[in-house]
Amino acid sequence: MAKIDLGETFAPQYQRTVAGWIQFPQHDSTERKKFFPEEVSSHSSKNNVYMVRELIDYLTEPRDVILDPFGGTGTMLLGAWTGRRVMALELEDINIEYMNTARAMWPPEIRALTTVAQGDCRTLLPVVCDCVITSPPYAAVLKGTSYNRDRVAQRAGLEAGATKTELARAGAVGTTGATDRGEFYKAQYAEHPKNLGRLSSFFFRAEMQKVYRLLFESIKPGGYLALITRDFHQKERVYLTNDVLKDAARAGFELSQWLKWECPQSAFVNASKLKGGRAIEDEDIMIWKRV
Ligand SMILES: C[S@@+](CC[C@H](N)C(=O)[O-])C[C@H]1O[C@@H](n2cnc3c(N)ncnc32)[C@H](O)[C@@H]1O
Repeated sequence: MAKIDLGETFAPQYQRTVAGWIQFPQHDSTERKKFFPEEVSSHSSKNNVYMVRELIDYLTEPRDVILDPFGGTGTMLLGAWTGRRVMALELEDINIEYMNTARAMWPPEIRALTTVAQGDCRTLLPVVCDCVITSPPYAAVLKGTSYNRDRVAQRAGLEAGATKTELARAGAVGTTGATDRGEFYKAQYAEHPKNLGRLSSFFFRAEMQKVYRLLFESIKPGGYLALITRDFHQKERVYLTNDVLKDAARAGFELSQWLKWECPQSAFVNASKLKGGRAIEDEDIMIWKRV
């Protein structure tokens, strides 16, 4: 059964910033490559390996069942390496492939502790578990203005670095913004029509409210729900946590802890900051109790 008392400090071996944000090692790709295929490193929304391990250790005991309804590349499956049983749900083929490739490389006794199910979590849930640790998708990923041109090129059988015109000639992408956007979300792994990330903020929130209710049904009383979310900028900072605070509470969860960690900055974000641009430098970890 999940840990009942969260009296100990979370991740005590890591330092904090002056604001109290936890400082997990920002670069985790060497560690990730020990467990996952190389291509996973370029996935845009995976969780930090060190943070995930700490959450698993903090919220669960060996043999507990951890559920991740938004499995992504499968970072949560690492829990099997410390004796947890982990179930990941995921919609997109590419992510299922990443997880299964990883599991195929793992020793059978570790693999046996993991389950991966493909489908829409709104139809697969509830799934009985001791704890949920997850990072939900973001609304409106279609709003992106750029796309991963190299990946689109690769899909069209062209060399990385192909120009937009070459892509258009190959029929891989049009020269209009509308088609670019289509390719953008494909490149960002939001191909499936049921991907919640494709919804506008309004409908996304309504669907997430359903997911929270289904998670409440899934977790055994006394177990925890950990949600990892990062705010973003549109015209100003969009506080995703405001919605989460209301919606998880409405589903019946009680807020236990609200932590922040100093998240990695890309070279791109740093360059934009030097020019006076804004960047989100913290990621939220909200721990909820299923009472
Ligand atoms: C933020 S990512 C999770 C990343 C993951 N924690 C990792 O470390 O790789 C959210 C995931 O939710 C998946 N997703 C979106 N809508 C879904 C749905 N309706 N059912 C199941 N998974 C969904 C997306 O494909 C995406 O992989």
